[in-house]
Amino acid sequence: MLGADPAEAAQAAVLQWATTFGHAVTWDDLAWLRSLTDLPLILKGIQHPDDARRARDAGADGIYCSNHGGRQANGGLPALQCLPGAVEAAGDLPVLFDSGVRSGADVVKALALGASAVGIGRPYAYGLALGGVDGIIHVLRTLLAEADLIMAVDGYPTLADLTPDALRRVALP
Ligand SMILES: Cc1cc2nc3c(=O)[nH]c(=O)nc-3n(C[C@H](O)[C@H](O)[C@H](O)COP(=O)(O)O)c2cc1C
Repeated sequence: MLGADPAEAAQAAVLQWATTFGHAVTWDDLAWLRSLTDLPLILKGIQHPDDARRARDAGADGIYCSNHGGRQANGGLPALQCLPGAVEAAGDLPVLFDSGVRSGADVVKALALGASAVGIGRPYAYGLALGGVDGIIHVLRTLLAEADLIMAVDGYPTLADLTPDALRRVALP
């Protein structure tokens, strides 16, 4: 009963939910997905190098290193720590990245660790809640401005100049 009010049709709502989310997609579904479209296929949620290699071997066009923000599995590995290994294993495939990006500095760090592009998770939703579409635009412009400023003052004029050498691991006191 698509379109019905879930409060009025609880059973139908549960059935709809189970039909939509009940089938977990597995590696075995990849060939089927590939057969459906010529569009780029990007696998999201990859953190382990073995999975990055498996995605590449299975014909993915890119991988998306992410822990989905750690919402459902708090305490999971920080995606940023997994990024270098995923990038190395992905070879020449583009590697997108998200999870915990909250500032332009976070964007710069992920790019320096090899991300081809960086995704913004919850901050855009916070902007939406506070200021509608203008709020989203503000969040994105703020992140972009800070990343731009950091690259300028630290002497990295282009994205290609951002490499792991731009970063140092510092011990916290
Ligand atoms: C409300 C909400 C719903 C989400 N749903 C999905 C989803 O269905 N599939 C998925 O791969 N990631 C999902 N994500 C994770 C985001 O795509 C993204 O990986 C994550 O928000 C990045 O982490 P961050 O929000 O801490 O920056 C969801 C995130 C939020 C906040």
